[in-house]
Amino acid sequence: MRAHSFAASLLLAFSAAAQDGTSERPKPPGLTVKTTSGTYTGLVNSTAPDVCQWLGIPYARPPLGALRFMPPKKAPNYGAADAKAYKPTCYQNSGNKSSLYWQLLPEYLNTGLESEDCLYVNLWAPRQPAEKVPVIIWVSGGGFKEGGGHALYQVPDQWVQRMQTHIVVTFNFRLHIFGFPGSPAASINAGLMDLRLVVEWLKDNIEGFGGDPNRMILYGQSSGNNMVLMYSYAHPKKPIVRGFIGTSGGTPLTNPTTSPNFHNVAQVAGCANLTATAELTCMQNVDALALQQAVDTINTDPNRGLFRPIADNITTFTNLTERLEKGLVAKLPFIGGFMYNEGAVFLPFDPEATTAPPPVSIPGVEGLTCSIKREVDKRNAYGLTTYRYLYSGNFTNVTPRYWLGGMHSSDIPLIFGTHYQFRGNSTEFEWQTSFAMQEFWVSFAANPNKDPRNSLGQVWPKYKGPNGLIMDFGNATGTGPSYVAPVSVADSYSGPCL
Ligand SMILES: *[C@@H]1O[C@H](CO)[C@@H](O)[C@H](O)[C@H]1NC(C)=O
Ligand SMILES: *[C@@H]1O[C@H](CO)[C@@H](O)[C@H](O)[C@H]1NC(C)=O
Ligand SMILES: *[C@@H]1O[C@H](CO)[C@@H](O)[C@H](O)[C@H]1NC(C)=O
Ligand SMILES: *[C@@H]1O[C@H](CO)[C@@H](O)[C@H](O)[C@H]1NC(C)=O
Ligand SMILES: *[C@@H]1O[C@H](CO)[C@@H](O)[C@H](O)[C@H]1NC(C)=O
Ligand SMILES: *[C@@H]1O[C@H](CO)[C@@H](O)[C@H](O)[C@H]1NC(C)=O
Ligand SMILES: *[C@@H]1O[C@H](CO)[C@@H](O)[C@H](O)[C@H]1NC(C)=O
Ligand SMILES: *[C@@H]1O[C@H](CO)[C@@H](O)[C@H](O)[C@H]1NC(C)=O
Repeated sequence: MRAHSFAASLLLAFSAAAQDGTSERPKPPGLTVKTTSGTYTGLVNSTAPDVCQWLGIPYARPPLGALRFMPPKKAPNYGAADAKAYKPTCYQNSGNKSSLYWQLLPEYLNTGLESEDCLYVNLWAPRQPAEKVPVIIWVSGGGFKEGGGHALYQVPDQWVQRMQTHIVVTFNFRLHIFGFPGSPAASINAGLMDLRLVVEWLKDNIEGFGGDPNRMILYGQSSGNNMVLMYSYAHPKKPIVRGFIGTSGGTPLTNPTTSPNFHNVAQVAGCANLTATAELTCMQNVDALALQQAVDTINTDPNRGLFRPIADNITTFTNLTERLEKGLVAKLPFIGGFMYNEGAVFLPFDPEATTAPPPVSIPGVEGLTCSIKREVDKRNAYGLTTYRYLYSGNFTNVTPRYWLGGMHSSDIPLIFGTHYQFRGNSTEFEWQTSFAMQEFWVSFAANPNKDPRNSLGQVWPKYKGPNGLIMDFGNATGTGPSYVAPVSVADSYSGPCL
């Protein structure tokens, strides 16, 4: 109620400013925006008074029934509705929830309601932008089995409130069996197609929110970065976006074209002993929650899912070097980075332990570090513009065990500006690190063809191969919250990259 009347008075304030001509600024978006999916009224929350937010706008038809496992269909015009509360995220395969994230740091996860009807976007825009602003589209991580549009650490309202010069979009996409079924009868990566549809939806609609459709970038982390990079290979001609940021995860070297997992789940979901086509149809008719529970029962591993993208040669490809060689990639600038202690979070977590493991190199962690290094080197070798960074932060409110330090995902709360919201306020150094990263990200979104810079005038140099330079963020033994360092510093934390 309170939010609504605040919103109403805000609209009045906007029209008053327009009438008395006190402002040369373009008309602010207002809270009611016409889109191709309908006319949606957002809100202003008093905790971010200069940010308009729209939560839960549909970008696709609910992917139910015969649309399950299938490419998403554009949402029709649903008429007028409120966009003031998150919609459920897509079904997550969180297994037995024994990971350190679930036990200690749920703010990194999407822990709210889940549903199969989940294809929605959320937008945060400055209340009175000076111009059409650049747009950062966030693609969350979670191993293709978890993730979505509203983890507490991934709410960008404070970032937009502070800078007032960009829009951040978050969205849900289909996960695990729903997004990456791998059925032989449907070699479709529905979850990757959801990402493409969001980008198309934003191209058509972002101006209504004050955004510039010609200045949008994708920013993904972990499997979200995988999705961003796959997108760049899948859309060489019409990428729509103008740049990419990707951290802590890269493109897999190979992808099986089929997987037995869909079939295995079918055996316990009431679809046993059928031909591939009949199995697929049968599986489209299984109750969604029952299917979700079948997957959660079969795969209890809190860190690794059974369902991942398959090389369909449409959204993903078996040989990416070949695509680079043939120029079949969106030739856009890419920022790639990783954390200095990526693997720590994947150790088995015992909440009762009083002594804990020291910082370690976890087997397999190279998938998060080396794949970034390789991807950036490869792009650089083929003449694409690249930038690199190392995140060296070790801040106790976002990683509250001494052995975690700069673990996987730990730069996210600094970029989103949510780091101070749980387990105590941040140190001054942490705030300054956060500000620097936020500014570089927005600078890149505003113009990916210019070296990013922050408000202190620091410039992020292009990465020029193995002896090149990178940004180092949050290194307490370095020379400030952000500074240029040799790439060898980052590579000393990347494990045995071959
Ligand atoms: C406003 O923001 C606060 C703090 O982030 C949050 O708890 C609350 O749910 C928000 N209110 C609305 C209406 O979104
Ligand atoms: C599937 O086939 C196996 C082997 O022939 C059989 O044991 C099983 O009962 C069948 N299951 C169903 C649900 O028909
Ligand atoms: C959760 O699943 C993992 C992997 O299957 C297993 O190693 C672990 O023991 C399980 N933990 C609990 C509390 O059941
Ligand atoms: C994709 O292309 C590769 C090589 O061009 C081929 O080996 C593979 O069978 C193709 N996969 C599909 C699903 O068409
Ligand atoms: C991928 O393509 C590159 C460039 O064409 C080639 O050198 C390489 O052998 C290919 N890799 C595989 C596994 O086929
Ligand atoms: C993080 O900093 C603390 C001191 O504040 C130190 O004890 C710990 O070893 C550091 N952790 C890592 C992983 O570097
Ligand atoms: C949090 O820390 C910052 C930086 O030290 C300080 O400016 C701010 O006032 C603190 N906020 C609260 C609520 O204590
Ligand atoms: C921080 O900077 C120092 C000095 O440049 C370097 O030796 C160290 O490896 C960097 N990284 C971390 C995580 O401290």
